Amino acid sequence: MRELARRGETIVVLDDLSTGKRRNLDGVAGEIEFLEASIADPQALARAARGADFVVHLAARTSVPRSVEEPLETNAVNVEGTLRVLVAARDAGARRLVYAASSSAYGEARTLPKAESMPAAPISPYGAAKFAGELYARVFTRVYGLETVSLRYFNVFGPRQEPGSPYSGVLARFLLALVRGEDPVIFGDGEQSRDFTYIDNVVDATLAACTAPGLSGQVLNVAIGSRVSLNETLRLLARLTGRPVAPRYEPPRAGDILHSQADITLARQLLRYEPRVGFEEGMRRTWQWYLSEYSPAQS
Ligand code: UD1
Repeated sequence: MRELARRGETIVVLDDLSTGKRRNLDGVAGEIEFLEASIADPQALARAARGADFVVHLAARTSVPRSVEEPLETNAVNVEGTLRVLVAARDAGARRLVYAASSSAYGEARTLPKAESMPAAPISPYGAAKFAGELYARVFTRVYGLETVSLRYFNVFGPRQEPGSPYSGVLARFLLALVRGEDPVIFGDGEQSRDFTYIDNVVDATLAACTAPGLSGQVLNVAIGSRVSLNETLRLLARLTGRPVAPRYEPPRAGDILHSQADITLARQLLRYEPRVGFEEGMRRTWQWYLSEYSPAQS
């Protein structure tokens, strides 16, 4: 949002604030038309999409374990909701829709790194729903001529990510625990690894995907292209924060995959994408933000 505002674009945001906060738009709120509504509401969607050249569809019900507990709700938002956004973009005559797809589409595929040419094999309702969204996007390209690009984001993190729910992303949870002087929880032995991707890289790829030529119908990985285990992550955090880190180990979560790492060759070629902020630098910036936002002294 901030980058779009900086570029002087006209921006309409539709968000039901089910996980985000109005405050996250501080500093750019004056440059944005904000509609507090859900993607389940076709009228609100039509209003938001009217006159849009590009639709970036980021709304989703996140979390693998929540999808295991509530598959119908996950489907309603991530599949039906996505279908509604596609319909709204089509009806508004948008030039292109960029869809936030997910690395969870790969599931347990053992080969690393994961390339788009590998078959999708999701192992959670979340992964299945996110993959279904890709299929719908491609179908809309083929049947209705709406240009679509699906970006498989790999474990995105950064400032403003909500840390307060059991379903929040692991790095947000780790950082909140450290700010509060609590012990972070690791589900499993901590040797599982992820291609944690700092938000600025995701913004670069997403905006490039709006305008790069010849992309319609494509599916592209967006990541850093390396992986780090949860145990290594906590060691790094101990170093960055200077605080003691003593994780509590609990049983692994259902639907969890072991390792995730992207091949980003295609995004490099087609989007001229290059991750600008590495994992360690991203963690440093994110820690600073959590520190200023959640330190006991601040609240
Ligand atoms: C998955 C997707 C990701 C998507 C996200 C949305 C994969 C590889 N990634 O993330 O692209 O954006 O869903 O929700 O499928 N964990 C702990 N302690 C905690 C919280 C989590 O140890 O307090 C562990 C989890 O068990 C998991 C890892 O950390 O092994 C990452 O979990 P999480 O941040 O929830 O993301 P994924 O499920 O990997």
